[in-house]
Amino acid sequence: MAPTMFEVIYYSLTGNTKKLAEAIAAELGVAAENVKTKDRLADDSLVFLGAGLYGPLRGFGFKRFIDRNNFQGRKVALFGTSGEGKGKELGALEEAVTAKGAEVAGRFFCRGRFLFLKRDHPTGKDLKNARIFAREVAKG
Ligand SMILES: Cc1cc2nc3c(=O)[nH]c(=O)nc-3n(C[C@H](O)[C@H](O)[C@H](O)COP(=O)(O)O)c2cc1C
Repeated sequence: MAPTMFEVIYYSLTGNTKKLAEAIAAELGVAAENVKTKDRLADDSLVFLGAGLYGPLRGFGFKRFIDRNNFQGRKVALFGTSGEGKGKELGALEEAVTAKGAEVAGRFFCRGRFLFLKRDHPTGKDLKNARIFAREVAKG
């Protein structure tokens, strides 16, 4: 059965992943939500989860949220940013949600600004691509 709604939830220490979350949420007509203040998922939603990469802290910020929510049979799309831009930040999220029975419906990642490096990332083009990603996932 098609999900009835979308939820876009992010963890973002320095604001880069938040920018992607806001672009994705705008495309879907919902508000992006910070995982720190998000308690429960709706019963029947397609969820976009996004995080940054912080060295060895895999899946940082999401553990308790994933633990307390029901992902059985749920479609989840993953997004993230990192200095190197290779998408490693998605791995821990993917393991955690699939272990709880979710199906990964899509993945999107790009570079994010880190200190004085990659200052213009995510770029306008990255945000545009994030919106395209959201649209494609939403179509199913
Ligand atoms: C404490 C810390 C550790 C980081 N470690 C890595 C890393 O190991 N590899 C990498 O590619 N980027 C690393 N970065 C860069 C972040 O992944 C990048 O800035 C990302 O866009 C942060 O997302 P955010 O702004 O949503 O928090 C690190 C950043 C911070 C603050």
